[in-house]
Amino acid sequence: MLLVKNIAKIVGVDESGRLRVEGSAMNTLGEIDNAWLLVENDRIAAYGTMDKMPEVAPGTEIVDAEGGMLFPSFCDSHTHLVYAGSREQEFIDKINGLSYEEIAKRGGGILNSADRLHETSEDELYEQAMERIREIISMGTGCVEIKSGYGLTVEDELKMLRVIRRIKETSPITVKATFLGAHAVGRAYKGRQGEYVDLIIREMIPAVAKENLAEFIDVFCDEGFFTVEETERMMQAAAKYGIVPKIHANEMAVSGGVQVGVRNNALSVDHLERMGAEEIKVLAGSRTMPTMLPGAAFFLELPFPPARQMIEAGLGVALASDFNPGSSPSGNMKFVLSLACIKMRMTPAEAINAATLNSAYAMGLSKEYGSITVGKKANFFLTSRIPSIEYIPYAYTSPLVRRVFLQGREVKC
Ligand code: NIG
Ligand code: FE
Repeated sequence: MLLVKNIAKIVGVDESGRLRVEGSAMNTLGEIDNAWLLVENDRIAAYGTMDKMPEVAPGTEIVDAEGGMLFPSFCDSHTHLVYAGSREQEFIDKINGLSYEEIAKRGGGILNSADRLHETSEDELYEQAMERIREIISMGTGCVEIKSGYGLTVEDELKMLRVIRRIKETSPITVKATFLGAHAVGRAYKGRQGEYVDLIIREMIPAVAKENLAEFIDVFCDEGFFTVEETERMMQAAAKYGIVPKIHANEMAVSGGVQVGVRNNALSVDHLERMGAEEIKVLAGSRTMPTMLPGAAFFLELPFPPARQMIEAGLGVALASDFNPGSSPSGNMKFVLSLACIKMRMTPAEAINAATLNSAYAMGLSKEYGSITVGKKANFFLTSRIPSIEYIPYAYTSPLVRRVFLQGREVKC
């Protein structure tokens, strides 16, 4: 047992058991002032106010929050954090005026990462990814989705997914794996996109399913990448194995990605820098969580998704980092909150709901994670002493996450 005491405020308390939060309700966060919280094994057992702190059994570990706040760990439902090396040369190309699409057309971008990944051993890939995992844990993330998509051959896609599985087995962070063979057309299939899609359907998806390496399938459904028809074929092939879609949609163009995702019961559609009224309408009443990745819009200087319109239309929205070497080389969810507030005019409460409960929903994890609820997994962090919840996105470079607890245990970072 573990008791946390002297917590200035517990944030993100939810007693309703809801799996996501939508529309105007996103602007409210459950809070308890001057509180304690009790953990039994790996779960939240109870909480309350300091004037009614319970006697605890001998041997209980006591943690003094020293007047900091307690937040549910961030859930990051969209990352590509298994990759080899980095791509700062393209960062320079961008400074010199090339666009993301131009870099990709020249054989850079995703294909550049695929070349490096091919040359990197599974062990080395794991070590590099674990460094990023340790970094995001220290910044407050407790659940993360990780995609393949820098392999682009049967062998290399499986190699990536095995690395993701190894992270899942060896780290206290909760991991969900997504197969993203349709991230770009592999080099060997240049000019033969249809054949590459066939390879995904005939070989990659069955191989991934056979080893049970992914719970989700993703497709980069966008102008210059995969078409709506191809996306639909791949989702349907994966559905036969119970693999659920999460789609990259509407980053480069109003591409039809949202519609095809919703039609195929995608758990989320992600990016959404280019949205029309029709896209928002289609999402209403669906199970699909619109997920915004403001780090990518910031890094690539794209327009930001219309978060206000989506929330005002009654939708729930999620936030994720998109941690990857090309469009968002950062997994800092606290900075994602700041971008959501500054660039998309989300309130701090909306942004925190989007980065916790709704992002957990977008990974199928919100029954167990994403809020401070009795019975849920004890994933939370303690902050430094801060004057308000709003201070978290406001102080946008201060590392305010002080101590991290995952599965009921402190993770020393
Ligand atoms: O989510 N949009 C597609 N894929 C990634 C970028 C991947 C890369 O450039 O390496 C993204 O932004
Ligand atoms: Fe992405």
